[in-house]
Amino acid sequence: MPPTIRRAVIPAAGLGSRLLPLTRAIPKEMLPVGDKPVIEHTVRELVASGITDITIVVSGGKGLIQDHFRPNPALADQLRADGKTDYADAVEEVADLARRGHITYLDQHGPYGNGTPVLNAARNFGDEPMLVLWPDDVFVAQTPRAQQLISAYDKTGCPVLALMPMAVEDSRRYGVPVIQEDLGNGLMRLNGLMEKPKPEDAPSQYAAIGGYVITPGIIDELREQTARWHEHRTGEVYLTDAINAYAAQRAVYGQVIQGRWYDTGNPGDYLIAQFASALAHPEYGPLLRTFVAEHDAPDPAH
Ligand code: G1P
Repeated sequence: MPPTIRRAVIPAAGLGSRLLPLTRAIPKEMLPVGDKPVIEHTVRELVASGITDITIVVSGGKGLIQDHFRPNPALADQLRADGKTDYADAVEEVADLARRGHITYLDQHGPYGNGTPVLNAARNFGDEPMLVLWPDDVFVAQTPRAQQLISAYDKTGCPVLALMPMAVEDSRRYGVPVIQEDLGNGLMRLNGLMEKPKPEDAPSQYAAIGGYVITPGIIDELREQTARWHEHRTGEVYLTDAINAYAAQRAVYGQVIQGRWYDTGNPGDYLIAQFASALAHPEYGPLLRTFVAEHDAPDPAH
């Protein structure tokens, strides 16, 4: 059976300000986690989940993302001529991934806020549901996070938010779902989302992480908001506001995602993502463990 959701959007126009000065010239989506840039992890996840139409919404200064996924036959031929077959295969594999995901790029246009890139991409998508994945999460999961979201959509036919358990003291960093009913197997009916509440106000111990199934009804709400964006308190268009407006009248679900989640959007979590991915590497993991063991030992000279 063909997947019900074929389209996905990766909003990648953000400034990456929490990672400055690292992101002055390098888009945060191109920072390495393990042996791949962050955004390649996301694209792999989408392609592995049957997505065949990926839109990456960009802004000025994001050309490296396009360079990374662009086919480079001259480089591959040169590597093969030099007998460097493994490198040539690796270069071609990334281009093949982009081809399978039919990656296209769109310049972000409109008011500030994370709703704008979604609305921009929806113009090309017509009346189909789509996945939206923030570019700064990396998941290590047996079933890809995107696939878990698609399965929840297949069951409900409604918008779905990716959720992860959260320590309540972290509530100021996330949208926290208001749960109406726990339906089992991690699927929950939601009343909406409270954006970045104080721990004492947090309505649950889950965080909405950067993954959504967005349906045409939510796009209609985003359109409404965009038409009135100057009335918003900060002049921005937020996905959370559109989801809440929709949830006030119709069903929205959350799906608790199985797997390990690494946030790469701030320096501390980014370093953890790097470290975890290096530790998991079959070749470099053991080297790193040895290095850490030796450098943790007390210095014999002191
Ligand atoms: C956005 C969403 C928030 C979500 C978070 C996940 O916030 O508004 O609901 O929990 O992404 O990363 P931002 O981190 O862009 O402020």
